[in-house]
Amino acid sequence: MRKGILSIGAAAAALTLGLTACGGESGDTSAETSSAPSAAAGDAKPGKIGVILPDSKSSARWETADRKYLEEAFKTAGVQYDIQNAQGDKTAFQTIADQMITNGATVLMIVNLDSGTGKAVLDKAKSQGVATIDYDRLTLGGSASYYVSFDNTAVGKLQGEGLVKCLTEKKADKPIVAELNGSPTDNNATLFKQGYDGVLQPKYDSGDYKKGPDQSVPDWDNTQAGTIFEQMLTQEPKIAGVLAANDGLGNAAISVLKKQKLNGKVPVTGQDATVQGLQNILAGDQCMTVYKAIKKEADAAAQLAVSLAKGEQPQASGTVKDTEGNRDVPSVLLEPQAIFFDNVKDVVADGFVSKDELCTGDFADKCTEAGIS
Ligand code: BGC
Repeated sequence: MRKGILSIGAAAAALTLGLTACGGESGDTSAETSSAPSAAAGDAKPGKIGVILPDSKSSARWETADRKYLEEAFKTAGVQYDIQNAQGDKTAFQTIADQMITNGATVLMIVNLDSGTGKAVLDKAKSQGVATIDYDRLTLGGSASYYVSFDNTAVGKLQGEGLVKCLTEKKADKPIVAELNGSPTDNNATLFKQGYDGVLQPKYDSGDYKKGPDQSVPDWDNTQAGTIFEQMLTQEPKIAGVLAANDGLGNAAISVLKKQKLNGKVPVTGQDATVQGLQNILAGDQCMTVYKAIKKEADAAAQLAVSLAKGEQPQASGTVKDTEGNRDVPSVLLEPQAIFFDNVKDVVADGFVSKDELCTGDFADKCTEAGIS
């Protein structure tokens, strides 16, 4: 699906070198660098940047990480910005976008709630001359000028491989694996599933693993995830491994497993390296999570947005194919990292979570054991 993929280091380099202003009047951009916007653009006061986050319940990341890092990047750049959260409400999402544009936003960055409503927001913004960025989730059939995210198929692959590692360590024999997928309206959830099914399907086919229940969780709703997993476990009490698409869904499954005293026995995956997910790993209830360095994602997106707000036309380092819109979207994709008990410390060392928030109460001893100092 995707064409250009970058490692974190490469992406950072490409951003430094690649976000070259090429909107100058002369049309000759060869001598320009990222820090030297075109004369025409450089004179104008940068426009405002509007960001719409999706909700605050499907993952802790949006409010605790994305908002924080985007804010920091915009403040450092000295641009005007407005970050709002649609709280899962698609109508509110459109209203927020309209208000942002009325209030002078010239750049709009969105995390869509689904491709249909995302497209409506993007198309309307574009028709009013507002530059647009798809942040984290690609809007299928949309019109965003740029897309910034992680390699989401790679995220899923790490989850699949992580579950295999944990099941192997437990010497599971022909384990029944349940899949608790993300929202069916989130293109990322589709990509995560492609990634983990790429690992698990051959195991089902060979008979090494048995395919158990496989269901999507509407809107990544953690409460519904609990109900869905409860039904899965009733239907198939011998579930021996759970591929949960993020830490919130994983935690919902763990809560159900706890009631049957199966937590710790049945490995569960996750994503986002949330404090809760990492604590579940430290407790031995969660097998792994996927750490996405959101600071890098926010920095990359902010750099594009700031450049656009200055009237430049930055160049992204790669492209991603929007199969529905049949177009190549200029993109920056970052690399995810798998986290198990032994490298939870990497997430702390990277400054994504602090020792103070992670190593509370009973987790203090586990933190010491995991080498978190
Ligand atoms: C994001 C994940 C997040 C999920 C639920 C996905 O689009 O990539 O990081 O856990 O949405 O909010």
